[in-house]
Amino acid sequence: MGLEEKIAALKAQARETIDRHVENLAELNDLRVKYLGKKGEITSLLRGLKELNAEDRSRIGKIVNDAKNDLSEFIAKKNDELHARELKERLESERIDVTLPGRKAWQGHLHPLTLTLNQIKKIFLDMGFTVEEGPEIEEDYFNFEALNLPKDHPARDMQDSFYITDEILMRTQTSPVQARTMQAHEPNSPIRMIAPGRVYRRDDYDATHSPMFTQVEGLVIDKGIRLSDLKGTLELFLHQIFGNDVGVRFRPSFFPFTEPSAEVDISCVMCHGKGCRVCKGTGWLEILGSGMVHPHVLEMSGYDSTKVSGYAFGMGVERIAMLLYGIDDLRLFYDNDLRFLRQF
Ligand code: DAH
Repeated sequence: MGLEEKIAALKAQARETIDRHVENLAELNDLRVKYLGKKGEITSLLRGLKELNAEDRSRIGKIVNDAKNDLSEFIAKKNDELHARELKERLESERIDVTLPGRKAWQGHLHPLTLTLNQIKKIFLDMGFTVEEGPEIEEDYFNFEALNLPKDHPARDMQDSFYITDEILMRTQTSPVQARTMQAHEPNSPIRMIAPGRVYRRDDYDATHSPMFTQVEGLVIDKGIRLSDLKGTLELFLHQIFGNDVGVRFRPSFFPFTEPSAEVDISCVMCHGKGCRVCKGTGWLEILGSGMVHPHVLEMSGYDSTKVSGYAFGMGVERIAMLLYGIDDLRLFYDNDLRFLRQF
């Protein structure tokens, strides 16, 4: 085979391979190197020209050059084609539907206990109460003594406590804010406050107990405050939070810091008084403790019990939230399980 035919055959073979067998840019590049690269087959033909005589050199040289240019062009065309195809495939496979609605960033919200507390606060703020605070690490004096529970008082046992020293403890109730508020006021000046906050007791952690929970305390003192004021205010509060058709009853009870004392029940929100598992068949749910402030408690904080009188109450926020939302396990409030929390 003469040189000319050899060139023609090489060219034809290169075109054919490129045309039929090349699937992608990488394969095309391999073939470009094979024919036109530094050590490529066409390139070596060009190198071989110098062995020919002058006449053949210019004739064959032209043929090889034409073949080289032809093949370069062919490769360039194929290159463009493959580029276009790959681009098209990518656009297809990576297509974004810009008409789809965006994915919303998840927004946090208030905890169900906070929501319940806010509801309670709103009702009392609307009735002209202020919101007071006291420390969670409290003095034995405020937590017990100033509330008519001297050191050896048996009622202390009901609030098994976390003591830090003999005189300092995690408060077991929000009631110490009663004494703190009175002592922060001019003696005998009127008070109408609630005090929400966390309290601590050595207790089990089960469906209805937790060693840490939330209370709202209430204290009203003024000239001529009577039991009917307590009753009216608490009835109004309970109707606002649980609805006007809920039944309210006052039951005589005992607290060292109130006299007389009453526990307040509402008709069961689950069975509406018929009797069920939640109300243990009684039709009633105990919801808070209350009473007329004991004269001794007023005196100990500088108030004159012959001039002013008052009432006080205390309630558990977890219990109210459980009844409002139909939650049957108190631990859900503290477990931080988003599947639970996202429902509110
Ligand atoms: N501090 C009481 C407790 O934790 C609740 C309570 C009862 C508060 C009667 C009061 C009250 O202010 O008058 O069990």
